[in-house]
Amino acid sequence: MPTTCVVGILWGDEGKGKVIDHLAAETDYVVRFGGGHNAGHTLVLPPELAGEGKLVLHLVPSGIVHPHTVNVIGNGVVVDPLHLCEEVEMLHKRGLDVELGRNLLVSERAHVILEAHRRQDQWAEQARGKGRIGTTGRGIGPAYSDRCGRIGLRVGDLCRPDQLREALDGLADQKDALFGPAGLELLDREQMLEQLLAAGDRLRPGIVDAGKVLRDARAAGKRILLEGAQGCLLDLEHGTYPFVTSSHSSTGGAFSGTGMPPHQMRTIGIVKAYATRVGEGPFPTELHDETGDAIRKAGNEYGSTTGRPRRCGWFDAVAVRYSGAVSGVDELVLTCFDVLRGFPLRLATSYRMPDGSETTDLPAFDLGAVEPQVVELPGFDEDISTVRDFDALPQTARDYVAAIEHHTGLRVGTISVGPGRDQLIRRGTA
Ligand code: GDP
Ligand code: IMO
Ligand code: MG
Repeated sequence: MPTTCVVGILWGDEGKGKVIDHLAAETDYVVRFGGGHNAGHTLVLPPELAGEGKLVLHLVPSGIVHPHTVNVIGNGVVVDPLHLCEEVEMLHKRGLDVELGRNLLVSERAHVILEAHRRQDQWAEQARGKGRIGTTGRGIGPAYSDRCGRIGLRVGDLCRPDQLREALDGLADQKDALFGPAGLELLDREQMLEQLLAAGDRLRPGIVDAGKVLRDARAAGKRILLEGAQGCLLDLEHGTYPFVTSSHSSTGGAFSGTGMPPHQMRTIGIVKAYATRVGEGPFPTELHDETGDAIRKAGNEYGSTTGRPRRCGWFDAVAVRYSGAVSGVDELVLTCFDVLRGFPLRLATSYRMPDGSETTDLPAFDLGAVEPQVVELPGFDEDISTVRDFDALPQTARDYVAAIEHHTGLRVGTISVGPGRDQLIRRGTA
């Protein structure tokens, strides 16, 4: 089965970047299918690579460090072309071999994030006041809204100056009609046009019909890895609406966001051994005490994109089971297990609803009012970051993994015990 899809299981930042970098060693194409530069995927590279150390990718897929891998930004992604040029520049400065058209491709159908979208995103957040979503402020929601509203610009437009000018004018007319009365600065169309054309020139060699490239690659038996951004609970349809992002970040987005038809594939769900969330919205197992702070400190839980402190809490088997079912997860990768050294091992197995009933299903409403029912298992004090064999883990750690499997109904195929590439315990595929 040549295609693997990797998705986040909760609210993002589960360690997808690390896992994808690992899997990319045996992959021909790594394809981002959704989100934009709201994502921050961290790779911690070994000394033998020119880009040694921590590398945070926002738009460029996480296979970029492997010389043989073609990295594709699919049509489901919203692309800020100015940001993409900067990211490629950053990778060059890190000494990585990135060449548009060879190992980095961008779908001509992907929609473009403009200065107008960023401005609108930040204004909307302010206007929401207490009800704010806590977005990354990068224009993601407005760009996807304009795609749905059919006034968006596509990456392919950047190479068509006349068409670009016309489309930009149409969009700017609509934006300025809103921005003026809201007291926002009107758009500088000439400057936007100039910047977009310059970015188009830079990106041109990599702008392709990515869907065709991928369909052909699949027909030729190439190994394809679909890289999810965000997580299932941030999915526009299936997540904790309205505290979600504006794309389809669970497996469903993998087909519409790439132009590949639905086909049999292996889906891997990435989940931390505890839970985190950045931004606003319900989080049943959130810890508001010093234990939450201690997990944040131990796991260095600060957003890879905005630097905001991540909210921390216990593993939530109810949410994980739900996301696993929605995403068709074949197996889990459990990350950041090393972080739980010295902590009690707790997990929520059901929720008590406001009416007193108990459920193991994730409700679409009132998630902020549920009371998670938590079980506690004995913890471990050993440093597990050098363990590579499941049987060498402390018994208590193995029992916790068994409890996760029992309460989620999902198999834990791999365990990550540190940010480094090799810090993995493989248990074989199911
Ligand atoms: P992504 O958005 O899902 O790719 O995740 P992020 O990169 O935003 O955040 C995950 C963070 O956890 C990064 O700083 C990783 O380097 C780090 N990380 C990943 N796996 C592990 C692990 O097993 N242990 C520890 N301690 N850190 C990890
Ligand atoms: P990766 O791919 C964590 C969150 C934001 C906010 C909500 C909506 O690194 O896992 P948006 O800017 O998308 O409109 O914000 O979604 N969010 C993420 N949280 N990891 C991410 O990506 C996220 N991308 C968006 O914090 O709550
Ligand atoms: Mg992240």
